[in-house]
Amino acid sequence: MSLWAIVLAAGSGSRLASAGIGVRKQFLEYEGAPLFWRSLATLSRLPELAGLVAVFPPEASGAAEDALKGLLARSPLGLPCRTALGGARRQDSVAAGLAALPREASAVLVHDAARPFLTPDLAARLADALAGGARAVIPGLAVADTIKAVDADGIVVATPERASLRAVQTPQGFDLALLRAAHARAASEGWEATDDAMLVERLGEPVLVIGGEPGNVKITNPEDLRLLAREESAVPVSVTGFGYDVHKFGPGRPFVLGTVPIPGAPEIVAHSDGDVLLHALMDAILGCLGEGDIGRLFPDTDAAFENASSAILLDEVLELARAKGCRLMHADLTIIAQIPKVSPHRARIREAVARLLDLPPERVNLKATTEEGLGFTGEKKGIKCVAVVTALTPAAFPAPGTLAPSAPSR
Ligand code: CTP
Ligand code: MG
Repeated sequence: MSLWAIVLAAGSGSRLASAGIGVRKQFLEYEGAPLFWRSLATLSRLPELAGLVAVFPPEASGAAEDALKGLLARSPLGLPCRTALGGARRQDSVAAGLAALPREASAVLVHDAARPFLTPDLAARLADALAGGARAVIPGLAVADTIKAVDADGIVVATPERASLRAVQTPQGFDLALLRAAHARAASEGWEATDDAMLVERLGEPVLVIGGEPGNVKITNPEDLRLLAREESAVPVSVTGFGYDVHKFGPGRPFVLGTVPIPGAPEIVAHSDGDVLLHALMDAILGCLGEGDIGRLFPDTDAAFENASSAILLDEVLELARAKGCRLMHADLTIIAQIPKVSPHRARIREAVARLLDLPPERVNLKATTEEGLGFTGEKKGIKCVAVVTALTPAAFPAPGTLAPSAPSR
């Protein structure tokens, strides 16, 4: 058996278009590639497969073929991959795909690119059935709803027994000669069909239904698009940032920690307001964002930041975090100083910082320590602060080198 697969990507996606989606569904970007790629890649993992045919809309074939070439260069599928131009109806596109198969092909899987979630296991079970002698095999699921047939006025004309009903999917597998014969009859007799099995049924040939996959849904209506939302973005990644800052005691600015003034403390030498705790905190947040440090964002050579309020600078850093979809979860702050004594002010500083970060106070921890008289803090020459911030960030920053085709015109 020489088994090929046809992936149908020539539809116009009219149900999505009528809801204002301007890109045909098979070209919507999914995991850094146009959606049709997912089906080709999955089918290519079938060891029995000899080759693939992708069927594209004639009006959009240039962009689609360019995208396919780029994808094949980036991730070769290890199989011949041909293309064909589809027709007005699905069955016309299948016929075009059949015409593009090589002479040696003897069996075929016909698959809708609009069903991107098929698994290699489903393809393998279809291939096994064909190898075992079935000439037409399709996946189907028992239906949960009672199905009614209605007339043009919406009046029920029949209720087929539910236990005997199957909702069928693609890929559908066929002996190639049989499917060709079915399409030839459809063309000569004007049969219309919504799947290929239907044409084979009309020839009077048996069609075997095997178990389908609940996940193998067809992207059809706008509400189905949520299935294409990047899986990763639903599961944010936890990131950690570290910040460290030092300020020297000396005539300059009044001493503040987390915007809280500490009466009786030494003055701070600083370009800005010298709030060493908020400086360490901002660096930790920037660490979560991968955005360098506050020196880069607010250079002290820039007069605009002379005397700048750290609370306002922190607001800008938080705005940057929001813009990147990064959500702060927790901050752990340590003040290292011989003087002043921090403990009387601890609760107020913690609350002030929590308010600035818009976090509940229990998500902000504040510690203070001396260095036992050692080093510059021990000699009361200055103060240092360290901060560790934990945040949740979307995993999916736009993939580099995205190969989605420019939206084909309809
Ligand atoms: N298809 C095709 N050629 C057509 C019509 C459909 O190749 N002339 C393909 C679609 O690209 C899709 C599959 O057949 O992968 C199933 O069709 P459907 O879900 O109906 O897609 P569209 O026809 O594109 O959508 P709509 O019916 O909403 O216009
Ligand atoms: Mg259609």
